[in-house]
Amino acid sequence: MEKFVITGGTPLKGVVNISGAKNAAIAIIPATLLVEDECILENIPDIKDVNIILDMLSCLGAVVERIDKNTVKINATNLHTYIVEKDLASKMRASYYLLGALCGRFKKASVALPGGCNFGIRPIDQHIKGFEALNCKIGIKSGSVEVDASLLSAGHIYFDKVSVGATINIMIAAAKAPGVTVLENAAREPHVVDVANFLNSMGANIKGAGTDTIKITGVEKLHGGTYGVIPDQIEAGTYMFAAAATRGDVTIKNVIPKHLDAITSKFVEMGVEVIEGDDEVRVIATKELKKINVKTLPYPGFPTDLQPPMVALLTTVSGTSIVTESVWDSRYQYVSELGKMGAQITVDGRVAVIEGGTPLLGAEVVATDLRAGAGMIIAGLCASGETHISEIKYIDRGYEDVEEKFGALGADIKRIDD
Ligand code: UD1
Repeated sequence: MEKFVITGGTPLKGVVNISGAKNAAIAIIPATLLVEDECILENIPDIKDVNIILDMLSCLGAVVERIDKNTVKINATNLHTYIVEKDLASKMRASYYLLGALCGRFKKASVALPGGCNFGIRPIDQHIKGFEALNCKIGIKSGSVEVDASLLSAGHIYFDKVSVGATINIMIAAAKAPGVTVLENAAREPHVVDVANFLNSMGANIKGAGTDTIKITGVEKLHGGTYGVIPDQIEAGTYMFAAAATRGDVTIKNVIPKHLDAITSKFVEMGVEVIEGDDEVRVIATKELKKINVKTLPYPGFPTDLQPPMVALLTTVSGTSIVTESVWDSRYQYVSELGKMGAQITVDGRVAVIEGGTPLLGAEVVATDLRAGAGMIIAGLCASGETHISEIKYIDRGYEDVEEKFGALGADIKRIDD
């Protein structure tokens, strides 16, 4: 079992390049099933979740080739099944995007119930509502979601909850559905826009992605082409938090600064300096930082996926900070791990109260999920002594070359086989 061993206490300094967005890549890859031609995808991160979804496409019959570390060629002309088996689908949450893609392609889909990080109940009722509005019959049979999309046609959907997954899934399913589909109360995350841009570049007609109303005029056919995925907002945010927490000075390159506004504005409130360039942000944390309160929200609010890195940072800031998690029911499992390092945090439901400024000490901790793992790395970088992080398989799901990137910023982080 692999572990990270971190010796903390060094302010991070230097330049880090951000990879392509995981959450865009793992939606765009399934969307290539709508295209009966060759798609070349650039800026695809070389991470576990991407490799799992590529395996799923191969199992369906698509020809998948990695041209280089970050470029993938997919030809889905000859698919031979619409069934995604349990052992593959249960490995990740995003397998539900295959429902939308297979419906658009085969008018039929059978995908075992999705797995993924466990932070509370993860319902798919909004996906189901969307498929029904597109005139599909959908049900759960022996642990698989089965969709009959033989009458697939446009529909009007008002989502009861802002859901990234449901917005993208229904957008993919509707891309080739006859008529005009309207999605209201849609998610506005950058990766929703990226999936729409990908589909449009292959011939789809999607307008309004990035607002809460998306209109999709179904087209008969999509053509192949080349598309580059956007930079990863959450990976960029993770390095911003690591820079601030270690009181460092880091330039984070290959980003879209606008996507980082929610973080930048909180940093400014705390006294962290952020200098924006065209495609980079420099984070300088030399002054004393101030406590803050923060609430996670759908985009353009503060991202829930950066809540653990934010909590790790706030443990280093004197005073009482309050974090409210409004997206997921149960996203504080990692707090007890921070407690092992001396952090003083109490959690009541969706609210975490952080009494910051007490020194963090190295300890044996567990990465309880992907972004919690990022929080543990940041805490380890700030702690005195050695921190051992186990279950790093979660971190490998979403961070490309993580120890190399932190290492290049001066962090003492090693991957060991325990
Ligand atoms: C995606 C991200 C995840 C991030 C989340 C919110 C991927 C692979 N994962 O997850 O990292 O934390 O967005 O930014 O992109 N909900 C329902 N019914 C549904 C669907 C969702 O009630 O049918 C609820 C969820 O329980 C949650 C909220 O809506 O409380 C947001 O979920 P959603 O945006 O769908 O998250 P994911 O797309 O699964």
